[in-house]
Amino acid sequence: MPEQTLTIALSKGRIYKDTLPLLAEAGIEPKDDPETSRKLILDTNRDDVKLVVIRATDVPTYVQYGAADVGVSGKDVLMEHGGEGLYEPLDLNIARCRLMVAGRPEAAARAGRLRVATKFVNTTRRYYAEQGKQVEIIKLYGSMELAPLVGLSDCIVDLVDTGNTLKANGLVPLEHIADISSRLVVNKASMKMKSARVKRLLKDLEAAVARRA
Ligand code: ATP
Ligand code: PRP
Ligand code: MG
Repeated sequence: MPEQTLTIALSKGRIYKDTLPLLAEAGIEPKDDPETSRKLILDTNRDDVKLVVIRATDVPTYVQYGAADVGVSGKDVLMEHGGEGLYEPLDLNIARCRLMVAGRPEAAARAGRLRVATKFVNTTRRYYAEQGKQVEIIKLYGSMELAPLVGLSDCIVDLVDTGNTLKANGLVPLEHIADISSRLVVNKASMKMKSARVKRLLKDLEAAVARRA
């Protein structure tokens, strides 16, 4: 991409939907809709701003390597990624939920080494290590709520919002690990090299977030 372009990385679905109004308040409006278009690079009303639409877990990687200057990423994804090469200057206060341990009601009392299914393996390892607990972690890529139902694990570490998914599967929240919301992340080199434009975007988004609080 031309050097003068500012590239913003977003994921489809809830982050895109919730970021769109904030970007609009910052004067940035995409020309295509990622839900209907097959394009991965979206033009905007501004010639010097492009959006790239990628998987949520890939956003920190694109920004870390400078393939995107800035991005919007869930704190859960950032905790798991580790945040190298990134600044995290702004809490956008969108896509809010909690990262929790959940399981069958009887899982809380279970003695011995727990089996924990999750897609957040690094965060889960860190969480139990801090408590001095030995657990076996089973990596999954989705539908974690199924694991305790079929005996794959004793509990899960997953995101909870309304609690409906847990309830529908006979699971209960057991431990709160972290409050989650989406953050603006910025590539460290872009923060210096494209300083004026990145700071302008930051200021505009900050104002948009503040207006909603
Ligand atoms: P993929 O569909 O590519 O596997 P994903 O499930 O991580 O990715 P989303 O469900 O759009 O993608 O989640 C993006 C971010 O939104 C998550 O990283 C998290 O921060 C937040 N999030 C996830 N689930 C919820 C929820 N139920 N309520 C509120 N925020 C959520
Ligand atoms: C997320 C998360 C939980 C669910 C929690 O799934 O992985 O399963 O939301 O939300 P709740 O507490 O309001 O039920 P999502 O909707 O993103 O579906 P996915 O499996 O496609 O990621
Ligand atoms: Mg999801």
